[in-house]
Amino acid sequence: AIAGCTGADETVPVVEKVTIIDVKYIVGIDGEYPPYSYIDKDGNPTGFDVESIKWIADKKGFDVEIQPMAWDGIIPALQAGKIDMVYSGMTITDERLEKVNFSKPYWVANQAVAVRADSEITLDDYKAGKVVCGAQRGSTAAEWIETNLIKTELMPEDNLKLYDNFPLAVSDLENKRIDAAMYDTPVVKDIIAEKDDVVMLGTIQTDEEYGIAVRKDDVRLLNALNDGLDMLMADPYWKELIEKYKLA
Ligand code: ARG
Repeated sequence: AIAGCTGADETVPVVEKVTIIDVKYIVGIDGEYPPYSYIDKDGNPTGFDVESIKWIADKKGFDVEIQPMAWDGIIPALQAGKIDMVYSGMTITDERLEKVNFSKPYWVANQAVAVRADSEITLDDYKAGKVVCGAQRGSTAAEWIETNLIKTELMPEDNLKLYDNFPLAVSDLENKRIDAAMYDTPVVKDIIAEKDDVVMLGTIQTDEEYGIAVRKDDVRLLNALNDGLDMLMADPYWKELIEKYKLA
């Protein structure tokens, strides 16, 4: 606190700094990222992030349209103006910050490694680059493998198989085309929850912060989203969402 201003925080009235009216923003998501963003059995996009942005849009007075698309091209689509934000469990990374801006973090996640239930692979084998593994193209999991296993020459490049989404990697795991698959822990848990042939071998702590990505020049939207996230995270609805999507 600034000297002489102690306690000022409590007395300043809370104002909604940015209200946007009559604008529709297109929200890019990967529809294969449960529980954050996915397509429900009726074909509608839903999930923790999708419900969050609908709530924020409602409070801030703008409309949203949810646009499922390929993860690998999602930042170029944002830069090209095909979508206005990415709200789909995107980790804030230095590399991405060169291209886009991010809201304040709203979640922290680590990586998990999935293997077949009858596998004898250990987490140490995985970390030593001894197994053929799969990851989503353009994900921080793929980046982790490249940085920690390939660039260090622990693992030959060919042992990393890239997929458009994680469920595709899991089917290759089940079909024994790969022996492990890496992805954000909450999503691995969700996707393997109903499977008895795939288990989580362990996690690797990466402390990734998720943020909403917007174009660098879209300061008005960024401010509205940051205000909206503050409001959401202070509202009982935030806890409801966390429970509903089993993120606690
Ligand atoms: N958090 C990881 C990343 O940012 C994986 C995100 C994948 N998100 C998705 N919607 N497919 O790269």
